[in-house]
Amino acid sequence: MTEPALDALLHEGRRFDPPVELAENANAQPEIYEHAAKDRLGFWAEQARELTWDTEWTDVLEWNAPFAKWFLGGKLNASVNAVDRHVAAGNGDKVAFHWISDGDTERRDVTYADLKREVCKAANALTSLGVGAGDRVTIYMPMIPETVVTILACARIGAPHNVVFCGFSSDSLSGRINDSDSKLVVTTDGQYRRGEPAPVKPAVDEALKSTPGIEKVLVVRRTGTDVEWDEGRDVWWHDVVEPASDDHTPEPFDAEHPLFMMYTSGTTAKPKGILHTTGGYLTQAAFTHRMVFDLKPDTDVYWCAADIGWITGHSYIVYGPLVNGATSVMYEGTPHPADKDRWWKIIQDLKVSILYTAPTTIRTLMKWGAEVLEPYDLSSLRILGSVGEPINPEAWIWYRENVGGGRTPVVDTWWQTETGAIMITPLPGITATKPGAAMTPLPGISADVVDNSGKSVGESGGGLLVLTESWPSMLRGIWGDDERYQETYWSRFDGVYFAGDGAKKDDDGDIWLLGRVDDVMNVSGHRISTTEVEHALVSHPSVAEAAVVGATDPTTGQAIVAFVTPRGSVAEDESAGEEFVQGLRDHVAKQIGPIAKPRQVLVTPELPKTRSGKIMRRLLRDIAENRELGDVTTLLDPTVTEAIRDRMAGSDTKED
Ligand code: WTA
Repeated sequence: MTEPALDALLHEGRRFDPPVELAENANAQPEIYEHAAKDRLGFWAEQARELTWDTEWTDVLEWNAPFAKWFLGGKLNASVNAVDRHVAAGNGDKVAFHWISDGDTERRDVTYADLKREVCKAANALTSLGVGAGDRVTIYMPMIPETVVTILACARIGAPHNVVFCGFSSDSLSGRINDSDSKLVVTTDGQYRRGEPAPVKPAVDEALKSTPGIEKVLVVRRTGTDVEWDEGRDVWWHDVVEPASDDHTPEPFDAEHPLFMMYTSGTTAKPKGILHTTGGYLTQAAFTHRMVFDLKPDTDVYWCAADIGWITGHSYIVYGPLVNGATSVMYEGTPHPADKDRWWKIIQDLKVSILYTAPTTIRTLMKWGAEVLEPYDLSSLRILGSVGEPINPEAWIWYRENVGGGRTPVVDTWWQTETGAIMITPLPGITATKPGAAMTPLPGISADVVDNSGKSVGESGGGLLVLTESWPSMLRGIWGDDERYQETYWSRFDGVYFAGDGAKKDDDGDIWLLGRVDDVMNVSGHRISTTEVEHALVSHPSVAEAAVVGATDPTTGQAIVAFVTPRGSVAEDESAGEEFVQGLRDHVAKQIGPIAKPRQVLVTPELPKTRSGKIMRRLLRDIAENRELGDVTTLLDPTVTEAIRDRMAGSDTKED
């Protein structure tokens, strides 16, 4: 972000008070902050009591920095909390999910009783396939109800799930299967994308060529397309889950029993398996969902438009809403130009009252124009949420005015895969919001902005975001790598969690998030590491060297720009061709997944380096951001090379 833009942001004068009626009836009332501050652990214990426990804990927190245990000695079952307890309370007929297929050709209402029956069957089937407590299960599935069923069935039998976003490549998938040492994969034959069936299982088949630990693959039929079949390994869902008994006695697990792992990009090429456990995670996922969205389970229709393959889907499609007994929308599709008004039809039809999405989507909707929304009655909406990247004030205002009719609070929620649940956010009935600010840590959460030496910057200062006290849904580690856990999050400053984000406090002490300060890019709200993409590029036989930077992009927040030096064996006219660049982009998509495809690949005979041989990323970022390079620049473009050379000549070579 440029200095003037940042300045304008921090002197943003607009304030939006909570609507009076919402404030009066809100789940969270102003005294909640003081109440939590007085007795933080007591406060979290109160929130934990909203769950159903088989055995109550003896201690709220054991903190051996940086290792936390919450609700020691407590025992509970996550799927009982998400499903059984609502059925037992007489809410079995309540809709848990209004599921809508891609393109809205099919709708299915799944009640809590349906969900319980399916989860029990799936739990029995998983057990019969040899999965027991502690065994890892990798889930590679699109946005269908069976995905939720699988997640909850795993939780029910204590088998940590490892959901891999269905857009990841077979290479990424096999890496995650092996790192988590999974025993079973659950997948589908295919999925629908923009009205067309697309294959899913072939990526699993490919991945499994290098995953010795996998014994079985459980396959849901979604598209009915032909798939290759390994008789000894592959099992159809309809053959084992449908006929299974719907009677299943859940076992209580320790509060610290691993619930799931979720791989996310770090600053090295190898993704990190972020580990979450049961009691603390569920406590905070449910608490935040109840308070940040002011959920009224009997009247709200809630829609989190994320994918279950990311942490937002885990906490705010699956666990938070289900533990709270909410009625949610689950949509298989994503917004696309051929189907511009789909969202507004869904909101109008189902009277959606809470919508949670990402700034990148809001900017896409903005591009399509407010007139797309006009024919629709969106008056049911009462709260709008944003997550995944900093939201620019224009997008924030557009969201509030056009989607929220100028009535609805917008809650900009900051959190991470590692934090498990929302950490910094306005509360809709309490906070006077500012367009673009995540505002304040939630009650029970302690955050600060510090300078490089770890000193708090106080009001009107900028620096790095840290979390200063353990929180219930914090990651419990990186799967199999305690050292990397300590090193990544706890070594920069003593005893506090380093989030990797830059932040500012304004004159009121409210927090504004400014984006990553490490080598992690944020593309359409997805975390992608520059190193991971560089790694993929240099694995191509024609590439000698690659440097990747994130450049500001008006729609996706950041876009991936790669600078590539071809090997000497590649002829100049070959590397100058469109095909060469396209080949590299496709190669990255194959290695990591389409989300990691660079927007631009710039071929250059050399990369700018310092005398000590370090690539000058800041310079590359300048080039990537300042110049009109066209959509897919095929090169050898002499102007870029010149630009690189010119800048090199005049720049400080001591850049780190
Ligand atoms: C960024 C997604 C500004 C941030 C839940 C963080 C945000 C990373 C916001 C985590 C926000 C998320 N404002 N930045 N409201 N929310 N981020 O793990 O850089 O996919 O570190 O979790 O997204 O991304 P992750």
